[in-house]
Amino acid sequence: MACIGILISGRGSNMVALVDAVASGEIPASEVTVVISDKADAAGLAKARTRGVETLVIEKNGRKREEHDAEIVAALKERGVELVCLAGYMRLLSPEFVRAFPNRIVNIHPSLLPSFPGLNVQQQAIDAGVKVSGCTVHFVNEHLDAGPIILQRVVEVKDDDTAETLAERILEQEHAAYVDAVRRIVSGRLTIEGRRTTYSGISDKA
Ligand code: GRF
Repeated sequence: MACIGILISGRGSNMVALVDAVASGEIPASEVTVVISDKADAAGLAKARTRGVETLVIEKNGRKREEHDAEIVAALKERGVELVCLAGYMRLLSPEFVRAFPNRIVNIHPSLLPSFPGLNVQQQAIDAGVKVSGCTVHFVNEHLDAGPIILQRVVEVKDDDTAETLAERILEQEHAAYVDAVRRIVSGRLTIEGRRTTYSGISDKA
């Protein structure tokens, strides 16, 4: 049984996709043990509670990043969490946090990395004139949006797209991509070599 902890800061739609996929068995042999938010008013907290998942609010409260992260790591470890999923968690993790879960922290990002890391990425994509964008699920290392890529999904950028309309279409793909990526990780059939990952199991999509 893989124990999963999810970190959020806001809406939590990717968190909901993961929790629901674990409940339905689409992500097998797993349990979402805790959802942690660094914001007390994160809308996702209520959605997690409704689904019977324990929630914790661990705010930074003017502390150093390392201290804040240490409290989160302790809460995750106490609950036996082995896989940490960042789902709209708006903080950069400290190296200590990353080292506490080596190759066991995953993030979803709404662009085709390595293009457009950081924030406001849909607007960045539109401004750059790219014709396709999408989302990336990747392992987290000590650099922003830079760890080994697990999978990506492509979304067309339309001529009349705004950052909002593009974000909406990418988000739909994010939910499916995140579920598929976590399914691959817990299957034990995903291997990491340098910057590359390979999956030897059955894919959702050809
Ligand atoms: C998503 O677009 C995700 O890719 C990005 O932040 C957004 C979070 O949305 N990291 P939600 O909270 O999962 O609804």
